[in-house]
Amino acid sequence: MSDTIGLFGLGNMGDAVAARLAAHGPVIGYDPDSGRATEAAGKHGIRLAADLAEVAAAVGTVVLSLPTPAISARVVADLAPRLAAGSMIVETSTVNPSDVQALGALAEPYGVRLIDAAILSGVKQMYEGTSMLLIGGADADVAAAAPVLDALAARQKHFGPLGSGMAAKVINNAVAHAVMVVLVEAGSMARATGVSGHDLVELLIGEDAGLTRPLTHRFAERVLRGEYDGGMPTEAARKDSTLALGLAQDAEIPLFAIQAAHSVYELGLAEGLGRSDYASIARLWERWTGRPLHE
Ligand SMILES: NC(=O)c1ccc[n+]([C@@H]2O[C@H](COP(=O)([O-])OP(=O)(O)OC[C@H]3O[C@@H](n4cnc5c(N)ncnc54)[C@H](O)[C@@H]3O)[C@@H](O)[C@H]2O)c1
Repeated sequence: MSDTIGLFGLGNMGDAVAARLAAHGPVIGYDPDSGRATEAAGKHGIRLAADLAEVAAAVGTVVLSLPTPAISARVVADLAPRLAAGSMIVETSTVNPSDVQALGALAEPYGVRLIDAAILSGVKQMYEGTSMLLIGGADADVAAAAPVLDALAARQKHFGPLGSGMAAKVINNAVAHAVMVVLVEAGSMARATGVSGHDLVELLIGEDAGLTRPLTHRFAERVLRGEYDGGMPTEAARKDSTLALGLAQDAEIPLFAIQAAHSVYELGLAEGLGRSDYASIARLWERWTGRPLHE
């Protein structure tokens, strides 16, 4: 099978992906935006294809860096029947796990293998080779894709079945975006009460402070073990988050994320979790979803 790698999408991230792949071996790229395609070809010395069929005829491995799940689906539907059985498609565009599973179903009837390799970082890190890939797919398929994955990024984590890499990326970004709201709310409360922004950063960066301890202690050591004895009771957490709401009200600071989080502690109390460590709010989701969070 050809060692040329096909690349669909030569936009902001696709250009950086092209740079990494071109350093590894021959690349043929396709992008309907001829300006972007010509720029990437000039910068990285990759060959350009006139259409999808030309890529399909030249490669055994294809990387996708496309803007929407619908476009990824269209490309894979057109590509899979044209590729040799045993070829590999690596989806790096950010999509949902269900989108990747749909791509896998389009490829499978033709014996074409497909994995997801979400890119955790931005364009700069991809150019520099310092990105991390969050990977999903069958073990054998991920092993077969090792040369292309290694060309893209040294840091890789294989989470599990098809779609799990994208799940990890979407969850990671959801955490980052929610925490960002919490931090801006916290910064506004600090500004109004004589705590400097720098002092807030110094406080929160500590390993026993409010940013890391919910992860390293409460989630990792309590939720994942189902251990809620001792610690700080939910009723005490509720009392303290009531203080935060009062502080924000006094200072006329709108709260969204912290306000919403407070409601969960009210629910926890109503559900009988008052004397358990406040990590026991995990029990609410276990009841609602019917899926245990402890491992
Ligand atoms: N930019 C980032 O920092 C970043 C980081 C991680 C993941 N991603 C993901 O990577 C993907 C690409 O992002 P981007 O920033 O390069 O977007 P972009 O919009 O800059 O580039 C997408 C490119 O795909 C091309 N395209 C559209 N239809 C095509 C087709 N049928 N065949 C081939 N090419 C086609 C477009 O012309 C465009 O050049 C997205 O899914 C994005 O979420 C981006």
